[in-house]
Amino acid sequence: MLKKKTILDFYNMKSKGEKVAWITAYDAPIAALAETSGLDMLLVGDSLGMCVCGYDGTVPVTMEQCLHHTRAVRTGAPNTFVIGDMPFLSYQVSVEEAVRNAGRFLKEAGADAIKLEGGVRVGRQIRAIADAGIVVFGHIGLTPQSSGQMGGYKAQGRTVESARLVIQDALAVQEAGAHFLLVEGVTPEVTRVIHEHLRIPVYSIGAGPEADGQLLIVSDLLGIFQAFTPHFVKKYAHLSDDIQRAFGEYCTEVRSGVFPDPEHVYNMKEGESDKLGALEQEMFGAKS
Ligand code: KIV
Repeated sequence: MLKKKTILDFYNMKSKGEKVAWITAYDAPIAALAETSGLDMLLVGDSLGMCVCGYDGTVPVTMEQCLHHTRAVRTGAPNTFVIGDMPFLSYQVSVEEAVRNAGRFLKEAGADAIKLEGGVRVGRQIRAIADAGIVVFGHIGLTPQSSGQMGGYKAQGRTVESARLVIQDALAVQEAGAHFLLVEGVTPEVTRVIHEHLRIPVYSIGAGPEADGQLLIVSDLLGIFQAFTPHFVKKYAHLSDDIQRAFGEYCTEVRSGVFPDPEHVYNMKEGESDKLGALEQEMFGAKS
């Protein structure tokens, strides 16, 4: 049986230069496939707001939704390291709320770690959650929950002034006691600097190759999400084409009576169907 990786394994991988491959997951069947395919960890991202619920961002996503999906992923992938994503307003209001909500991911949903967005401005929350004994992922750069302040989903670190802010955030996350850092939508040059100067593992989503591992959103990777495709996404499948073809064929076959065919029905036991005529007559009378 597959052994679930721990923080020690991920630190070990970093020291050996082995890259971590992880994706988001929102449900048990995909989580189970990810586990058998050898993914190193799974993030139950608040991107579920867009990928599952059809919202146009992550801001409306609630703690209850995140816990619900984290539980499903934990069930589907019992031997994979699972990270719960703290949704908007679950950690910003107070340090106490942040710790309580972070703890709920472990107690109620079986997560191994939590992730929260922000650098300098969430240092107190990171410190308190880590002090509660919880494994913490910081998340900096293009942080979708505060995309309103960024003027949209904009890459960060494209100027030296922006690079300074991103690097300050990275340092603040490490200083506050986070165990991992995720850098999103940042230029590769800036990610390289962060990766070179931080002790903790640094992972990238749309932030270039110089990191300890890569994350992609599962719906992008599989080619399911159609609303938009970020520039950094590589599609490893085009499932939306397959899904639409399958739905179309199903409609055609149902409407023309091709489905269900004899192969796709349950058969009565040997000799029983011969007696059905008598039963029908008994129950409904003779056909006129
Ligand atoms: O919610 C999510 O999937 C994320 C990734 C975009 C990093 O936070």
